[in-house]
Amino acid sequence: MTSKTFPVFRPYSRLARSYDAALGVPNFLRTRHAFRFLVRRYAIRFRSAADLGCGTGLFARYLAACWRVPVFAVDRSREMLRVARGNCCGSAVQFLEQDIRCLRLPQPVDLITANFDTLNHLVHRDEVRRLFCRVAENLRPGGWFIFDFVTPCQPLAGRRTWVRRYRHCGRELQQRIHWDPPRRLLSILIVERWAAHSPPAVEVHRERAYAPREIGRWLLDAGFVIRGVYDAATLRPARNCPSRLIVVVQARADHLRPDRSPRYRGAHQPEPQA
Ligand SMILES: C[S@@+](CC[C@H](N)C(=O)[O-])C[C@H]1O[C@@H](n2cnc3c(N)ncnc32)[C@H](O)[C@@H]1O
Repeated sequence: MTSKTFPVFRPYSRLARSYDAALGVPNFLRTRHAFRFLVRRYAIRFRSAADLGCGTGLFARYLAACWRVPVFAVDRSREMLRVARGNCCGSAVQFLEQDIRCLRLPQPVDLITANFDTLNHLVHRDEVRRLFCRVAENLRPGGWFIFDFVTPCQPLAGRRTWVRRYRHCGRELQQRIHWDPPRRLLSILIVERWAAHSPPAVEVHRERAYAPREIGRWLLDAGFVIRGVYDAATLRPARNCPSRLIVVVQARADHLRPDRSPRYRGAHQPEPQA
């Protein structure tokens, strides 16, 4: 079966319905575990948050419900946001249908997160650099940015192709991932079937793996202070180059000085930093 044979849908349009059962819930549990660890480790305090590439909103819901803060949940997929609205019903989550490359929150926040490959969906280096600048502009002074990303260091555990299958409520979802080392590109074919002989719905996703060093350089260029880099699998400080990293960075206390960001002039009084 190839994507030529069947119509190809926009990324995260058809997948939205099956996302939580196949990927969203197991991944959320890992993300929540890592987040709790990092909040303790860095004594992170926040009174507002945004989750970029929020998908079906599980992490945004967790932030709003367990940390009792208002949360902006940002995604460009209308279908993922529709599922997210259902998941977050009754919680203090405000949804923004936005492309994170042009991120513009209604007001700056204390914490921004981007979980589970969201950053890798930006396949051009300039887009990641731009994202880091947008994040810095949308954080309050001293605010935190926590995100993960896939590196070029054996992202498929040394394989070139990886096929995963999920079955849930009569649907079968197949995820066929191909790794192209020279271009550092992950091409992901998602095939969803309702029944064995029904025509499948196909989506094609592309992600780029980024080297830790380039990510570090762009974060510093955007004015962040890098507080910690962790192996996502072990939550130990990263020594070499694991396949997925979690990064904790902080905006400088003076980052949003009124003279540097007229947009937020007078919007917030900076809080004293510990
Ligand atoms: C792999 S999913 C991760 C979803 C969620 N963060 C999670 O942990 O399950 C990536 C999400 O990023 C969103 N996304 C990708 N590129 C984006 C962009 N440029 N702007 C906004 N959202 C984007 C996709 O629509 C999708 O919902």
